[in-house]
Amino acid sequence: MSNMSNAVVVGTQWGDEGKAKVIDYLADRSDLVIRFQGGANAGHTVIANRRKFIFHLVPSGIMYPDKVCIVGNGVAFDAEQFLKEVDELDACGISVAERLFVSDAAHLVLPYHKSLDTASESFMGKEKIGTTGRGIGPAYSDKIFRVGIRVGDLVDADRLTEKIKNGFERHRALAASIYKADFPLSLDEIIHRYAAVRQRMLPFIDDTAFRIFEAYSKGKRLLFEGAQGTFLDIDHGTYPFVTSANTVAGCAFTGSGIGPAAIDHVIGIVKTYTTRVGNGPFPTELDNATGEMLRKEGGEFGATTGRPRRCGWFDTVMVRRAVQLNGLTHLVLTKLDVLNKLEEIPICTHYEIRGKRLERFPSNAALVSEAIPVYETMPGWKSDIAQCRSYGELPLQARTYIERIREICYNIPVLIVSVGPERRQTIEVTPLT
Ligand code: IMP
Repeated sequence: MSNMSNAVVVGTQWGDEGKAKVIDYLADRSDLVIRFQGGANAGHTVIANRRKFIFHLVPSGIMYPDKVCIVGNGVAFDAEQFLKEVDELDACGISVAERLFVSDAAHLVLPYHKSLDTASESFMGKEKIGTTGRGIGPAYSDKIFRVGIRVGDLVDADRLTEKIKNGFERHRALAASIYKADFPLSLDEIIHRYAAVRQRMLPFIDDTAFRIFEAYSKGKRLLFEGAQGTFLDIDHGTYPFVTSANTVAGCAFTGSGIGPAAIDHVIGIVKTYTTRVGNGPFPTELDNATGEMLRKEGGEFGATTGRPRRCGWFDTVMVRRAVQLNGLTHLVLTKLDVLNKLEEIPICTHYEIRGKRLERFPSNAALVSEAIPVYETMPGWKSDIAQCRSYGELPLQARTYIERIREICYNIPVLIVSVGPERRQTIEVTPLT
């Protein structure tokens, strides 16, 4: 893969497609790695040099000592979590000095946002979204309501204290009056904690939109790291069972401050089965022993919350929609090895809703919950593919499965097939040009 130019990587399902591994792999050919949306709700697992790291905010490219990593303005930024990750990296001898920057325009997630997230979820009871509890919804609400606190506000200590006071009072009043909930933390404690956070954050704060533009102008290669997945997008996902940000590729521009012409490739990460964590419709869900087997073989437990993920068959109706919404130019197929033991592998080709055949993913989540998946069945390969290192080494049935997915998903070229969590378990199929 020689001419790696600028690319955005996004999830095509409900998140947890294995984006971090692919970002880590592609980062080798990039100069800047940029997070542009989401927050510490994401859990990006990278396994390198036999060590496992779970990043929530630091871009996965940080594992390479020569890469510049940027947290863009579109991110809901939990500074305490970020500093924890910086400390963990430091403890492993990975220095971030002068190569990790956070946009001054990113909005802070404060402890009271997390309290409100939890209070709102318990108030909703059965109707709850099943959030990660990381304060994402309340922090983005503040941003849109124009009362948020931005990373740039950390620079002025007095103004910061004033803003935290106002934010705390507003959220406490909301929690008490609507949700009848108390806050576990006092204002003094938050102010005290943020005095330390502020000091430590100062070297990271930057006009990252300018830094990205400057790098782009000099021909540096940019890699945009998406979080969550297409169907958790606030506009295009299964609303209201979504996150509070756009997750589709278009958000890479607004969330980082560069124009659309900067992107050459839009790479969609596709898990070769489907998972979802949290509530909401899931047409191909397997609430049985096969679902349990996928969960076990795939280690399908949330990287952020540890919750068991719901598992189901591959759904081409969804992935076709993801191709459209993101303008995908390439697919990366992940976790193919999880299917090793299966005799047969069903692929959902279309839905039936109210007796009608539907090949298009409905934009209305209520209709999605009525969808009956219709499958075609592919033969399994029933062998261990974790050691395969080239496309040709894959069993014929595995290649046929890949080709069929590609064919149904508008014939988008398959860039990479991943057969295990390690860097070396990555098969390049089509070169990026
Ligand atoms: P929130 O983003 O914490 O508000 O959660 C909203 C929904 O998005 C819930 O269903 C979460 O489980 C889901 N979600 C948020 N982040 C991720 C992620 O990184 N992977 C998978 N699901 C996520």
